[in-house]
Amino acid sequence: MHKIDLDLVEMTLDVMKYTIDRISKTEDVIGKPQKAATLKALVGDTVTDKGIGGETAFNLWKQHLMHANVKIDHPRHLAFVPASPTRASILFDLVTSASSIHGAYWMEGAGGIFCENEAMKWIVSLTGLPEGAFGVFTSGGTAANLSAIVTAREYWRSLNDQNKSQKGLIITSIGAHSSIKAMAKVVDVDVLLVDTEDRLKGSALQHTIDKLTPQQKQRLFAVVATGGTTNAGIIDDLDGIATICQAENLWFHVDAAYGGGALAADSVRHLFNGIEKADSITIDPHKWMFSPYDCGAVIYKQPELAKKAHAQEGSYLDIFKDEGAHGFNPTDYQIQLTRRVRGLPLWFSLATHGTDRYKQAVERGLELAAISGQLIKDMDHVELVREPSLSCVLYRRKGWTPNDYRDWTFANHDKGFALVTPTKWKTGDTFETVSRFCFINPDTTEQDIKAILESMK
Ligand SMILES: Cc1ncc(COP(=O)(O)O)c(C=O)c1O
Repeated sequence: MHKIDLDLVEMTLDVMKYTIDRISKTEDVIGKPQKAATLKALVGDTVTDKGIGGETAFNLWKQHLMHANVKIDHPRHLAFVPASPTRASILFDLVTSASSIHGAYWMEGAGGIFCENEAMKWIVSLTGLPEGAFGVFTSGGTAANLSAIVTAREYWRSLNDQNKSQKGLIITSIGAHSSIKAMAKVVDVDVLLVDTEDRLKGSALQHTIDKLTPQQKQRLFAVVATGGTTNAGIIDDLDGIATICQAENLWFHVDAAYGGGALAADSVRHLFNGIEKADSITIDPHKWMFSPYDCGAVIYKQPELAKKAHAQEGSYLDIFKDEGAHGFNPTDYQIQLTRRVRGLPLWFSLATHGTDRYKQAVERGLELAAISGQLIKDMDHVELVREPSLSCVLYRRKGWTPNDYRDWTFANHDKGFALVTPTKWKTGDTFETVSRFCFINPDTTEQDIKAILESMK
């Protein structure tokens, strides 16, 4: 398995050929799942005592298994939050794997961590956080949110002895991503949801805080605002919320996992005003910064607080903390010890193309949302539910029931034509099933959008 021979050379060439084919194919079907039993019937036993051989396994992948995946970077994949890694970043993902770097400590991964930090400096500069702020790459937004909540909770507990025995409480809105509630469960803190899926305003937050009991108020340690909600691309009133957090001595976390890429876009940057006052921010390069999976990021105004919360101790780790090994240790700032230098593909792509190209690619996503908004207004059978926000567009097909949306989604997916999924939008007390676009891929065309809308006729 660890021998270098002709088979290895041939396999390397096969892998490179596959990679070139995959990343240069611009028009293709979108890919759809199969039942596990169907896949098993197609490929048979693949993990056996003696192995089936690399060539056979790779052929099974190419013939059957890879087609059972949605091509998340397909220009007509507009569901959830799509991805569209640059080709340079995908290629360097291969280099990252081939380089076998342990990215936890500078002592072992200095070269890779240096590159990650160069990319991170750019991301931090977009936030406007003060000198000293810095971050690390995580496995995604969920892990970044978890790392931030743990840091906030540990900081709060360090403030006085009473907090040490209290169950913490955070406030966010129903527009926040599901990972906030899920990670609060992991950390065992309670979540109070402000009942708005629209922009969370400072006034609504203040009202919620004012209604807390004295006991709840004592337990409250953080507010999570969203910089681009997953469902509708809405940016909360970050400045107003920051002011309240300052006055109430609360940790201010901004979850910009999806929207954070738009910090690079001059046309919408002002919508994020106030983000520079955050104590921590989540931004996912694997969403709108065109990185391959998986690559999230958590950024702290005061990274030393994260280090207090996360740095692991163990006699076997002491050497990493010795002066002789001195450098930046990403493991100290988030929940993971052994880690891939997952910011490396982003660094290579940024170094290759420059940050201006990133700005342009993000602006294209915003433009596509505006274009689709206009197309929807011009067509009789569809209408906007709300004006596009960032790159999210919510719209309804007049007269459709939830089942119609579902059937349409599956029909388009089945044909390999497009993947656009329904969601729900809350108005008053009612949840309406509607259709949603989220644009990330700058290669999506106006024609793609038209064709999808026309398929709803
Ligand atoms: C606003 C927001 N936060 C967090 C997440 C979770 O990120 P991940 O899936 O990378 O864990 C998402 C995912 O879509 C998101 O949109």
